Formats: sequence, structure tokens, C-alpha cells
Amino acid sequence: MSRPSAKPVVHFDQGRIRATEWRFEPGAETGWHIHGHDYAVVPLTDGELLIEDPGGSSRAVPLVAHASYTRTAGVQHNVVNNGEKPLSFLEIEVVEDPLQEQRLQTLMRFGEAWNAHDVDALMACMAGECAFHASAGSGPQGTVFVGREAVRKAFADVFEGLPESQWTNPQHRVIGDTGLSTWRLVARSRDGVPLEVDGCDILRFDGALIGRKDSYRKSVVRSA
Ligand code: NI
Repeated sequence: MSRPSAKPVVHFDQGRIRATEWRFEPGAETGWHIHGHDYAVVPLTDGELLIEDPGGSSRAVPLVAHASYTRTAGVQHNVVNNGEKPLSFLEIEVVEDPLQEQRLQTLMRFGEAWNAHDVDALMACMAGECAFHASAGSGPQGTVFVGREAVRKAFADVFEGLPESQWTNPQHRVIGDTGLSTWRLVARSRDGVPLEVDGCDILRFDGALIGRKDSYRKSVVRSA
């Protein structure tokens, strides 16, 4: 059964600050969304929210009028009115400059493309001149791939080597011309060996696109 939609009412949208009131009838939801900006929430009513997180988990959270809280950009969820009365809160977003916002959107699209195993979508996030420093290799930088052809093949080889790979619980941040994406790689190798390891990408932007992806993973040590 589909839920009714929560209603956004923009109070103001001026320069760096945007305030949106969200009004929920009982059972209404925002729909799935990723927050592109740091934000504060000011509950206008009491109530109970159901927060659905990526990966299928959900949790009930009390909403207490006037008890405000803040979250950082990159939060991904669906928010539902879990109570029997209407509820509302004011969401106040701090809007970064447009280039920073585009860079964050690039990281989100890039993360989705990895989970979709879509090499074309990955390359659409990469700048004309680009490089990939893999998390493993014989030198201190890991194996280095330079140029679109080499990077495309290296990305395709990741999917080839780890056919069921998913990068779960992604978190993205942009600091100047540097991006940081953290994730947990959950995969199974071609011969069926499971892999579950935390890692991150440090990304260097060229404009709004990725000029270099530098990957790191925890080193998994198996006890004998
Ligand atoms: Ni939200």
C-alpha cells in the first residue's frame, strides 16, 4: 500500500539558508532522499517518526516540539509519520556554494553507479583527464591508472573480479577541491570467497567532476 506524501512548504530560500516546513498526515512519508546540505530540524509538534535507512533497517524516533537537532550532508533515508496525529517540523538547510553542491552530487551519483555496476555512469562522473589509484598494488600508491581508457578498464575489472560487490552505508563529504567517501565493501570473489571490509576514497575534483580517485581499504588479517 503506498503512503501519502508529506507536504513541503518553503518558508524562505535566501542565499545560503533555506527553511522548509514538512507537514505529515498520519502515515505520510517524505519518500527516499539524500540530504545535499548540512541541516537543522526544529520539531513544531510532538509525534513519532519512523526512519527507514538504506539497507532495509528502520527505527521509531520520538519527535519532541522545539527539541532541535542537526545533521550533516549525505544522510539518506525515508521519513514517515508513525503516529496517529498530524506532525510537522521545520528543516533549515545551509546551502553551500553551487560548485560544492555539484561536487557532492557527483559523489552521490558515483556511489550509486558503483552499486549499479554501471561503468558508463562511473565515467560520466570522471573528468576528461583522470586517474585511479587502486587500494592495492606493488608500489606505495597502489596500482596507478591514468587516462580515461585505463581508468574505465580498471573500473570494469573491479566488477569482473567482484561480481556481487556493493558499497554499503556510503557517506560523502566535500572539503574544498577534495572529496571523501566512506563505505563498507560487501562482496564475493569469482571463486566464492566472501569479503567485507571498510574503506574510503579520497577524491580530487577537477571542476565538478572527479580528477582522481584514490582508494583505501582496511587490511583484513585472518587468524590461523
Ligand atoms: Ni531527510
